[in-house]
Amino acid sequence: MDHGMPGPQGPAALARLVAETDWAATPLGPQLHWPLALRLAVDLILASRFPMLVMWGEERAMVYNAGYAAILGARHPAALGRPVDEVWPELRGQLGPLISRTYAGEALWFEDLEMEVARNGHPERAWFTFSYSPLRDALGVVRGLLNTVVETTDRVLAQRALAEREAELERRVQERTAELMRAEQALRHSEKLQAMGQLTGSLAHDFGNVLQVVDSGMHLLSAEGLTPEERQQVTEGVGASLDNARRMIRQLLAFARQQPLEPVAFDLSARIGGMTELLRHSLGRGIRLETALAEGLPAVTLDPAQLETAILNLVMNARDAMPQGGRLRLATGLAGGRPCLTVADDGEGMPPEVMARLFEPFFTTKPAGKGTGLGLAQVHGFVTQSGGDVRVDSAPGQGTSFTLVF
Ligand SMILES: Nc1ncnc2c1ncn2[C@@H]1O[C@H](COP(=O)(O)OP(=O)(O)OP(=O)(O)O)[C@@H](O)[C@H]1O
Ligand SMILES: [Mg+2]
Repeated sequence: MDHGMPGPQGPAALARLVAETDWAATPLGPQLHWPLALRLAVDLILASRFPMLVMWGEERAMVYNAGYAAILGARHPAALGRPVDEVWPELRGQLGPLISRTYAGEALWFEDLEMEVARNGHPERAWFTFSYSPLRDALGVVRGLLNTVVETTDRVLAQRALAEREAELERRVQERTAELMRAEQALRHSEKLQAMGQLTGSLAHDFGNVLQVVDSGMHLLSAEGLTPEERQQVTEGVGASLDNARRMIRQLLAFARQQPLEPVAFDLSARIGGMTELLRHSLGRGIRLETALAEGLPAVTLDPAQLETAILNLVMNARDAMPQGGRLRLATGLAGGRPCLTVADDGEGMPPEVMARLFEPFFTTKPAGKGTGLGLAQVHGFVTQSGGDVRVDSAPGQGTSFTLVF
């Protein structure tokens, strides 16, 4: 657009054109007879560099300045003195009501109003920010309007392009994220399969060991000439091996367990108190079990069977961490107002790389036949499913303490 520029479309040229137009042939009539209000308004717009338009009379005939001429495109100069409906027939539906409201005395202002205009011979979408102000005659009657209009098409299009680029970028980010998640899932799936393979292998191996111990035990027991002590030793060996097999089965069942938890409300300390005899038994003589069970704790709502399995898993780990014997502490209390349970040993402790993988199913540092790596996976699964947290504190040589907060 060249509004405000000198030349055939410039302000001076337009002023000249207005002066030379034969207004008698237009609805506005000869310039000499124009009412004062119209003359003042036309003088005002011709002096302005903003695109401006005066509409006057019932016909809504147009007088405009150089800036507005640029908006008119090829419709200028034929539009001078013509009714707006004739100049912009395609905008009649959109502008008609606005013009009527202004003629009724209302001042209007619109920002980035979209219009479809055919100024260059074909329809184009264009945006305008403009105002309509009523023009009154000496008696205060609205006779026309003053329209200041700025085309904002370039800015609107630039903003839209920017918004589109942003949306495109956002979409690409989302696509990448989804892709990564798919890849990660595939990886996890394949890791799981690999782990299942390992598990099957190690289970077969573990049960093979158990069977071998039982088998050779049976042979030994049926042999002649065994002393009662030897007989006792063999029986204990077979018993321990079967215990091991039972432990493996229990953990597999806990891990494979599909049915939802069956929580009931109970007192944590009382439930643990009821387990201590059993625990003392399975710990053996080298390990001292100490309990510090707080009274009057708020009730927990948990699946009791799962809780017992979790405690057994923690206690068995503690036992395994203290092969030379030691001290195992079972304590209940409050952590941040929530009931909690701590299982602490003074065993070998853990290095950070073990701490990092502790809860992974099938992660174990124990030799084949000793651990399936499912104990802490069960503890973690159960506690988090019950809305609690597991906290671990450990260092090599410093012992380990697990706290379950419910
Ligand atoms: N109290 C502890 N002290 C030292 N290390 C521990 C302790 N508890 C767990 N760990 C380490 O964490 C690993 C994972 O424990 P988790 O109970 O999940 O499996 P596991 O004991 O090896 O096998 P499972 O319990 O299935 O027989 C153990 O192999 C061990 O290295
Ligand atoms: Mg374990």
